[in-house]
Amino acid sequence: MNVIVCNTADEMDVIASKEFVDLISTKPNAILGLATGSTPIGLYKKLVQLHKDDKLDFSKVTTFNLDEYVGISQEHACSYHTFMHENLFKYVNLPKENINIPDGQAKNLEEECKKYDQKIEDAGGIDLQILGIGRNGHIGFNEPGTPFDAVTHIVTLDQGTREANSRFFNSIDEVPTKALSMGIKSIMHAQNIILMAKGADKAEAIYNTINGPVTPVVPASVLQLHPNATIILDKEAASRL
Ligand code: GLP
Repeated sequence: MNVIVCNTADEMDVIASKEFVDLISTKPNAILGLATGSTPIGLYKKLVQLHKDDKLDFSKVTTFNLDEYVGISQEHACSYHTFMHENLFKYVNLPKENINIPDGQAKNLEEECKKYDQKIEDAGGIDLQILGIGRNGHIGFNEPGTPFDAVTHIVTLDQGTREANSRFFNSIDEVPTKALSMGIKSIMHAQNIILMAKGADKAEAIYNTINGPVTPVVPASVLQLHPNATIILDKEAASRL
């Protein structure tokens, strides 16, 4: 595991965005694994700027998002479809048909999960996966206790995760109780993984991810087993290391 501690959030975003530029310049049809949450917003801003400056062409790129809520529409202000559209997709030249986000409204959710993994495999697998981390160490929506061999699946969200994510909704009652998430096995198949964490409320999860035992109790600790995982942190998230 490669751990980079940065002085500012901007420095984190610059380092992560450079990985995208390097990848897409050598492989224009790269397959990206994308994350939601507040952490990657700065990175997405950098990618948009690089695109505007003609340094990043998404015309052949394909994306797969980690997760989506079950029980809210794609058009809902808090859906991850909306998040991605508002923070990245509407500003770049990524073909609509190359965008993949699990469909939390699918009639048959089990089938949707199977189809999602198959689609990733058919695309040739993810070249670069971006991850945030939950306060409880979750990646995607793989909550503590998720087996490491899980592929894309239906998740029941932890109460703490619903509380943390309620800041985006009007109230906690509106936060869905379920989601679809790429599994840990699906995530671990990516060639390269970058996990970003900002802020003191992630410090304990980061300590356990990097220094703790590899255990499903801390889903992100599985990254210790990945050959090309980079953890990019601000000082606050790194404060317990
Ligand atoms: C959600 C997402 C995760 C994300 C986490 C942290 O639960 N499913 O992919 O990493 O939030 O979010 P934030 O970056 O806002 O702290």
